[in-house]
Amino acid sequence: MRIAIGNDHAATDLKMELMEYVKGLGHEVINVGTDGYESCHYPEYGEKAARLVASGEADCGILVCGTGVGISLAANKVKGIRCGVCSDTTTAHLIKEHNNANMISMGARVVGSELAKDIVKAYLEAEFMGGRHQIRVDMIHKIEEN
Ligand code: RB5
Repeated sequence: MRIAIGNDHAATDLKMELMEYVKGLGHEVINVGTDGYESCHYPEYGEKAARLVASGEADCGILVCGTGVGISLAANKVKGIRCGVCSDTTTAHLIKEHNNANMISMGARVVGSELAKDIVKAYLEAEFMGGRHQIRVDMIHKIEEN
């Protein structure tokens, strides 16, 4: 898969670790986050990664900032994006199985790098269940039309 990765300064180290991890799983990474540690603005990176996913240039996306919240809020403003913060592996597989999330977000100040890798793996390996969940996902995107 082609995976867009975005981050701010609070999550540069975690981003670097996750990029290596994801490449090791055989995926292609499109890094649109900062590689530095200077204070910057997470909406820029959330939006960049989200636009790659929304356009189909990336199959899904992984976002990291301090809490995972701000960057996910930005990503969710892009039409077609379904992104949620994951701090555990149960959420990580259910967010794909039930919500068909096309991006996940994590907080570098919240989860350690080993848990973050487990979260990424659980998300990438999960499959959307469809059925009643598709109806709900469709309802979410209907909101975007108003
Ligand atoms: C940056 O200090 C911090 O606010 C940001 O990384 C993130 O946690 C916002 O939600």
